[in-house]
Amino acid sequence: MLAGQSVGYRGAVLTPSSAGGVVYHDDAVLVVSPSGTISAVASIEAGRAACPLIHDLRGSLLVPGFVDAHLHYPQTRVIGSASGPLLTWLERVVFPEEARFTEETYARAVAKEFALRCAERGTTTVGAYSSSSPLATNLLFDALRESGLRAVAGLVLMDQRCPEAVRVPAAQALAACREIVSRWHGFDGGRLAVAIVPRFAISCSKELMQGAAAVAAEHDLCVMTHISENPREEAETLVVHPWARDYLDVYETVGLVGPRTILAHAIHLGPAAWDRVAERGATIAHCPDSNFFLGSGAMRLAEARARGVTVGLGTDVAAGRSFDVRRTVACAYDASLLTESAATPAELFTLATLGGARSLGLAERVGTLEPGKEADFTVLARPLHAAGEQGALRAATFAAELAPVTRTYVRGRLVWSRS
Ligand code: GUN
Ligand code: FE
Repeated sequence: MLAGQSVGYRGAVLTPSSAGGVVYHDDAVLVVSPSGTISAVASIEAGRAACPLIHDLRGSLLVPGFVDAHLHYPQTRVIGSASGPLLTWLERVVFPEEARFTEETYARAVAKEFALRCAERGTTTVGAYSSSSPLATNLLFDALRESGLRAVAGLVLMDQRCPEAVRVPAAQALAACREIVSRWHGFDGGRLAVAIVPRFAISCSKELMQGAAAVAAEHDLCVMTHISENPREEAETLVVHPWARDYLDVYETVGLVGPRTILAHAIHLGPAAWDRVAERGATIAHCPDSNFFLGSGAMRLAEARARGVTVGLGTDVAAGRSFDVRRTVACAYDASLLTESAATPAELFTLATLGGARSLGLAERVGTLEPGKEADFTVLARPLHAAGEQGALRAATFAAELAPVTRTYVRGRLVWSRS
């Protein structure tokens, strides 16, 4: 980049609009200021006037970087370990793998791999769960720092009903959270943020969840957790927490549900619980690839839509079978049809970008290609037959194979390129 000067990127541009709908330009220049913000999506003439250097990306499609609102870093190497429904899979596959993350060399190697897998799929922002190891969580942040990706991430909290090797007592885990917050929250002008991550109600004592809510409130942090993914999980939650009237009530009672809360799955919530999610302003990480892999069911997108609940998409690696948000988009479409919530490509594209940014509290910064936003964008090789707005929408939603990612940028900085 030329110091102190704007840089242009010329190509087709497709973006959700903050005002609703999507906007498409067949041939435009994305003008990025030296500080990495978007100053304009300009005509070719205006772009030439603003930028001494214009990267010629004609034949490509520029979209906002994908936002993966929910995935698990320590599950990077166990994708595809099919072994039954949620609780069985956690016991057989996930907990043994996550137990390995107290080992520095392993945790560091996987953290680098994790960041690379995200960037190469065009993901610019992740909502990432770490393991319960503070060491691994610091290594995750270090890998994210180095990769240039944007992230909201946190130490997974679990102090009961899980193997000894991944269990951390409440006081110790909360002290580690505070330490991680002081080291990483707001790093690099807010590119990295720390979230509070009680894994799910079964593996958290009431005391741990109350403490977690207090730390989140103290620092105004996102809270990320799982809810209503599987009927057995739901039943067991109420055995473990018999004082709660339903699954959501566990989190409400301990003070974990508010506008900064991202609830993953939400498959089996009833209409009244959906009303409470909406009233509290919490958001949803919709993880349909994972939901199919574990046979968990299909979330009713229409319930969220009807109440104006914000929805982002999560690959939920490693119950999700791919780091590619566009695979999750395809599954979200299938799930929408199964639940009589038929989604359009424009809606799905918006969920995969702006929806995720909104759910992670980052919509002022990213999620669209509009002036004033930070320049997080992904370049897709566009097949010739995907012309016009409809072709662009197909490429940006379903055509991960036909329109592969060639470059990924965060704040105008190249974080991955194909060659
Ligand atoms: N519920 C609690 N932990 C997990 C997890 O790691 N993955 C999924 N899909 N659900 C969970
Ligand atoms: Fe998950």
